[in-house]
Amino acid sequence: MADRPRRLRSRPQLRNLVRESRLDAASLLAPLFVVPGRLRREPIESLPGQARLSPDLVLQEARRLTELGVGGVVLFGVPDAKDDLGRGAADPAGPVPEALRLLRSSDLPLVLVADVCLCEYTIHGHCGILNGVEVDNDLSLPALADVGLAYAQAGADLVAPSAMMDGQVAAIRSRLDDSGLVQTGIMAYACKHASAFYAPFRDAADSTPAFGDRRSYQMDPANAREAMREMALDQAEGADVLMVKPALTSLDLLARARMRFDLPLAAYQVSGELAMLEAASERGWLERRPAALETLLAIRRAGADIIITYLAAEVASWLSEEQR
Ligand code: PBG
Repeated sequence: MADRPRRLRSRPQLRNLVRESRLDAASLLAPLFVVPGRLRREPIESLPGQARLSPDLVLQEARRLTELGVGGVVLFGVPDAKDDLGRGAADPAGPVPEALRLLRSSDLPLVLVADVCLCEYTIHGHCGILNGVEVDNDLSLPALADVGLAYAQAGADLVAPSAMMDGQVAAIRSRLDDSGLVQTGIMAYACKHASAFYAPFRDAADSTPAFGDRRSYQMDPANAREAMREMALDQAEGADVLMVKPALTSLDLLARARMRFDLPLAAYQVSGELAMLEAASERGWLERRPAALETLLAIRRAGADIIITYLAAEVASWLSEEQR
C-alpha cells in the first residue's frame, strides 16, 4: 500500500513534525474587565476564573500575563454610572483610560487593545445612541470616534470598535489621524454576529439591552457573503486587523476570510463558548484541557492569526508545560 497516512502518526515526534497548526502564547489576547477604584476584584459568576478588576489589579494581572508570554490584553470598561449617551466611555478619567495609562507607563511587553463600544456605558445597554427606540447609526459615529480617541490618547496600541455601526472604522480612523495618532491601529470587529453566545459577557459587563435586541446592527449568523462584505468594508475603511466572532460558530467565515484578505485575522472565543466548556467539564462530560485546546486549535486551523480567549493565561501555561 503506497498511501499509509498512519506512518506519520506512529510516534509523538513524527506527529509533532508534521503538525500543520500550532498554538502559541504570543498570539493570544486576554480580555479583561476594568472597574473604577483600587484593589477591587469582583469574581464574575457567569465567567468562572474571571473577575472585574480595578486598574491597579489589571496591572498586576498584566504582569502575570507577561510572565506567561501572552501577547496582550483587550480591555472592557464596566463603569459605576451610566447615562443615555454613554458619555462615560470617552471619559479620560474612566477605568479603561486609567488602566491603559498604567499599563503603558509600566512598559510591559504586551499589546494593549481597548474595546470601543457604548453598551457598557448606556442606561439602555445598546451599542450606539438612540433616536427614539432606534439605534441611530450616524449619531453614534462621532461618539464612537471620541471613545477611540480617548483610548488611543491613553496608550492603546489598537482600538477595537465592536458596536457594528456602519462607517465606524472610517470615523475612528479619521479622528485618530486628525489628532496625530496615525500609529494607533484599529482591530475591527468586522463580522460580529447577533449571537446567543454573548450572554455571560453581558452579565460580566452589565450590558444587556434594556429593550429589544441587537439584530438591527449585529450580523445575522446565517449570512456568509454579507460577512465578507462587512470585512471588505472595514478593510477599505482602514482596519489593520479584521476580527470574526464568535469563533467556533464562524470557522467557515474565518477560512473564507483567510483566502480573501491579507490583513491579520483575529477570532474571539466568546463568553458563551467558555460557558459551554466550563459547564460540560464541571459535569465531567468533557475533559476540560484537551477540549479547550482542540477548539482553539480548530480556530487557528481555520485561519485565525490572533485568538482572543478568556483561557489565554491558562493556555499559555499549558503550552510552556508542553515545551518542558
Ligand atoms: C460589546 C461587546 C460584546 C462582546 C464583546 N464586545 C457584547 C455584545 O455585543 O453584546 C461579547 C464578548 C463575549 O461574549 O465574550 N459590544
